[in-house]
Amino acid sequence: MASTTSLGVTLTVLLVVITPSAVLPLYHHHRHHHHDGASVGVVEAQPLPVSSYSNGKGEPKYTSLPLPEALKAMPYACDDDCVSKLRFKAWEMQGNCTTCAFAWPATTTMANATTSDIMGIVLYNGAFVDPRSYSVLASKLASRGVNVIVPVFPNDLATDCNGMTLEAVTNAFFPNVTAWMVAGHSYGGVGASYAAAATLLCGTSPRVVALGVIGSYITKMLQCPVPVPNFEEDDHLHAAVITGNRDLSINLTNFVDNLNRLPVHTTFTSIIGGNHQQFGSYDPSGRSRLRDRPLIDGNATISRDAQLNATADALVRTLLRATKNNDISPRSLVDC
Ligand SMILES: *[C@@H]1O[C@H](CO)[C@@H](O)[C@H](O)[C@H]1NC(C)=O
Ligand SMILES: *[C@@H]1O[C@H](CO)[C@@H](O)[C@H](O)[C@H]1NC(C)=O
Ligand SMILES: *[C@@H]1O[C@H](CO)[C@@H](O)[C@H](O)[C@H]1NC(C)=O
Ligand SMILES: *[C@@H]1O[C@H](CO)[C@@H](O)[C@H](O)[C@H]1NC(C)=O
Ligand SMILES: *[C@@H]1O[C@H](CO)[C@@H](O)[C@H](O)[C@H]1NC(C)=O
Ligand SMILES: *[C@@H]1O[C@H](CO)[C@@H](O)[C@H](O)[C@H]1NC(C)=O
Repeated sequence: MASTTSLGVTLTVLLVVITPSAVLPLYHHHRHHHHDGASVGVVEAQPLPVSSYSNGKGEPKYTSLPLPEALKAMPYACDDDCVSKLRFKAWEMQGNCTTCAFAWPATTTMANATTSDIMGIVLYNGAFVDPRSYSVLASKLASRGVNVIVPVFPNDLATDCNGMTLEAVTNAFFPNVTAWMVAGHSYGGVGASYAAAATLLCGTSPRVVALGVIGSYITKMLQCPVPVPNFEEDDHLHAAVITGNRDLSINLTNFVDNLNRLPVHTTFTSIIGGNHQQFGSYDPSGRSRLRDRPLIDGNATISRDAQLNATADALVRTLLRATKNNDISPRSLVDC
């Protein structure tokens, strides 16, 4: 079902799919005109004005709501009003909110972990996906021996340019974790890359040993005034890149163009039959409202539960590998 393959093999599988881009819905498309006036349909990334997707106080105009099983997998009952309050607080505190997150303590001890390693994963949501939609994946990770945090971001956009949210929630919920993975789905995968890069460059707390890029790739996050993360030279960080071969949301040109930003220790997992939306547990039916074109995703040929099991397995495998033979001394620090 899930196959971990070498880069070459994975790309062969992926490249046969021609896909549109939907990973970063904050880009809108401009039609450019040659001097002769002909529309050539060049696509250029532009930041959308906040008012087009938000009420300006951290509440998105549209978000994909969690499925019933996701509400059941929450650590405590949190209704729409409860999550709205967390978004507003996250917006007010601009990344400093230590309580704007949901947490799942590990329910077992992780197999094969050395006793000194207490592990955790911070999971960033896809753009305009209610963070509660990642509770099922979070509980699967917790049952594999990992502490999990899903932060709540303003507007349901996991933008964490300087890693401030990552630092706030990891210290608040699991101060004893010694090895963190920062992972994210779709837009959240980009957010996770920025947070990991900021943390690796600017401090030792939390200690990030691994990155998880789920249905996504490392690219420019328009709202971030810092360079695009590039881990090419990073010989300590491990990464898991997890794709579904029915995911028609990923722009494969961009996926391929950005592969060189990943660390040398990257494992690619292609989930055969998996699509984009099944990395979360949300109802995508209204997502076409986000942009003036239909929602694009492939039809999965495996169940959501199977896809989430495979995703959890791949993330945990990489986190474990990252803690083995990993030089835990702090990276050389720069002024931030
Ligand atoms: C993928 O993104 C590139 C660069 O933004 C764009 O030129 C191309 O048209 C996109 N491909 C699809 C299939 O949308
Ligand atoms: C967040 O914390 C930083 C660093 O402690 C501080 O400089 C900043 O003023 C705080 N921002 C808010 C909105 O509390
Ligand atoms: C733990 O180690 C055993 C034996 O080496 C191996 O079969 C198993 O797959 C490992 N488990 C994990 C989660 O890596
Ligand atoms: C963290 O470790 C300290 C010292 O070992 C212990 O007293 C404390 O209970 C632990 N905290 C948590 C949240 O596990
Ligand atoms: C998914 O399945 C529906 C219903 O069978 C079909 O209309 C649609 O074309 C399929 N989508 C793709 C991308 O194959
Ligand atoms: C996913 O994993 C759980 C727990 O191991 C298992 O009970 C369930 O059957 C798995 N789902 C699928 C579709 O394999």
